Amino acid sequence: MNSSLDALVHSAKNAFHSANTPADLENAKALFLGKSGQITELMKGLSALSIEEKKSQGAGINQAKQAIEALLQERRAAMQEEALQSQLKAEALDVTLPARKRHTGGLHPVSLTLERIEKIFSSMGFEVAQGPEIETDWFNFTALNTPENHPARSMHDTFYVEGGYLLRTHTSPMQIRHAVQHVKRYRSLLDQDQRMPEIRVIAPGRTYRVDSDATHSPMFHQCEGLWVGERVSFKDLKVVFTNFCKTFFESEDLILRFRPSFFPFTEPSAEIDIQFSEGPLAGRWLEVAGSGQVHPNVIKNMGLDPEKYIGFAFGMGPDRLTMLRYGVNDLRLFFDGDLRFLTQFQ
Ligand code: FA5
Ligand code: MG
Repeated sequence: MNSSLDALVHSAKNAFHSANTPADLENAKALFLGKSGQITELMKGLSALSIEEKKSQGAGINQAKQAIEALLQERRAAMQEEALQSQLKAEALDVTLPARKRHTGGLHPVSLTLERIEKIFSSMGFEVAQGPEIETDWFNFTALNTPENHPARSMHDTFYVEGGYLLRTHTSPMQIRHAVQHVKRYRSLLDQDQRMPEIRVIAPGRTYRVDSDATHSPMFHQCEGLWVGERVSFKDLKVVFTNFCKTFFESEDLILRFRPSFFPFTEPSAEIDIQFSEGPLAGRWLEVAGSGQVHPNVIKNMGLDPEKYIGFAFGMGPDRLTMLRYGVNDLRLFFDGDLRFLTQFQ
């Protein structure tokens, strides 16, 4: 290669190096190797020369052409590598950054109690039923042996809503709703005077009363229980409820007291109090439920013959059970939605 070819290769090298984009590089390439590029022009010039000159000059031009092509490849590869590196840099993860915090939810303490109640009663053969929170006067009061102007109605401070409806003041309307469905399902057995499967159900849910202090909330929870058959007795109520409480509180030393009381829909009636022998509440009696033998008028409203069917019902307060289980002294904490309180139960 003569010195002018050397200079040509050198100027190609400079041109390729100052190209910053693939398009620049293609333009620079055209200057040397394109249709009218400098190398191409030199090749064209060979045709006018003699064979001897063609040989000697042609070899030099070819060498220069190959050198330029190699420089071009080199620059292309370098450009691709640069592009890759800058892409990697842009997409890089900084593994030393603190991780984004994951917030895992959890169940509300009262929901935990409701789950526990359902599990325990299911293990004793009880179904779990759900019903409406907006009720009619019939299901909330009248069918439960509490006709209009009955003094017992004033025991509940009721939220009335439009259209003659009310917010249920207890879960007891579910006694009637569930029993009526049950009787309907086994109508044909009853018509043939055959034995109907017993009604054994709990009905947990929200209830409402115009009521608010440390142990009363305008919205609270109840869980109804109902067991009706041909031979269900008050003794069964005592066994079932005592077993429930011992399992719920995981304590064998729990004492239950059935204190005579009054409900229009049960006769006789009892409020159920419990006493702990250990812990911060030791020695105190705490009411957890109302209960009793289902009143004959209620059995009738279920569509059953009170001469043949008998049973018991209870209505407990899961919010109170939650307070007792976790040692919470103000019911309103459950409904304030303060995470500092709620996350303690996860
Ligand atoms: C009743 O509501 C009856 N329906 C219970 C019943 C059912 C009796 C079946 C017989 C047969 P009482 O008003 O006492 O009864 O409420 C029952 C339980 O609900 C109470 O023991 C208490 O634990 C809970 N409770 C009542 N009012 C509130 C309130 N405002 N806030 C939180 N819990 C309450
Ligand atoms: Mg009560």
